[in-house]
Amino acid sequence: MDKARVAILVSGRGSNMAALIYAGRATDCPYQVFLVSGDKPKAPALVVAEAEGIAVERLDQSVLKQGYWQALEDSLRASKIDLVALAGFMRIIPADFVGRWAGRIVNIHPSLLPRYPGLHTHQVAIDNGDAKSGATVHLVTAEVDSGEILGQVEVAILPGDTAATLEERVLIAEHQLYPRVLAQYASRPLDAGWIEEQVDALARQFDEVGRKTSHGSPGWAVGSEKSAKLFAILADRHHGEDAVGLLVKASGPDEMSGLIEAQPDIYYWPKYYGASGWLGLKLNRRDVDWEQVRDWLERSWRAAAPPRLTRLQDIADSF
Ligand code: GRF
Repeated sequence: MDKARVAILVSGRGSNMAALIYAGRATDCPYQVFLVSGDKPKAPALVVAEAEGIAVERLDQSVLKQGYWQALEDSLRASKIDLVALAGFMRIIPADFVGRWAGRIVNIHPSLLPRYPGLHTHQVAIDNGDAKSGATVHLVTAEVDSGEILGQVEVAILPGDTAATLEERVLIAEHQLYPRVLAQYASRPLDAGWIEEQVDALARQFDEVGRKTSHGSPGWAVGSEKSAKLFAILADRHHGEDAVGLLVKASGPDEMSGLIEAQPDIYYWPKYYGASGWLGLKLNRRDVDWEQVRDWLERSWRAAAPPRLTRLQDIADSF
């Protein structure tokens, strides 16, 4: 199984970290923890991670100061990390760092977001007389506790609950929620349904695009309904291939062979389709460059679109 390589960032106790590590050990779990990085060298979490045989990095923020984020980035890249999970990590990640890791950092927060971002969530929920609290796993964006919600669990507030007793039960719920949501999120880039949604959103940015199947595979065509011409096809492990591949029109066999030879992780020669000029882009990868996919879709769209749609762009290009 192609497991996502996960790094966990911690500052303290690390009970969520432990839950993520143990769940990741199951052979069918789509992620595995390869690195635990702490900004406080004495954090108890780091002792646990070490005992569990996980690579541990102690990056002392109070010593590294501004160099901390570059050091963290270097270690994540050196360990070829796909996803970063925050587990009681007490630093606000700078916007430029978040930008470079967009969609690849997740966090767990002890409330039902968007209610109660920030600290002291349990006390606030009790003071407000709420009937329930809970936990949320969300994507990290530059604004604290406000990225896309990936999963939530509710926890009842009991009469007589204190912040401490409520925290204890919410923590049990966190330990179940976090590994489950991270596993779902880690398998998303390999899921043909999700890939099709991404391609569909990109393909529909161009004019007169509609759906059309090609020998049972989903495809996208341009032009009026009667004469619509295919410019992209999604071949989901077609004829035993490993790829969930996007087939687009290249300029010909020379360009195709050149690309496939230079970047065999990205490009392939699709069975049957290759002979008619369709180039395959492997999309069931964790490092797909969606800008590049968009560019290929545009190129392929232009090759298939009727001249009335491309004329203006052709004129602009000739200058
Ligand atoms: C958890 O309550 C988590 O929701 C919050 O910080 C706490 C960390 O606890 N972000 P632990 O270090 O995972 O035990």
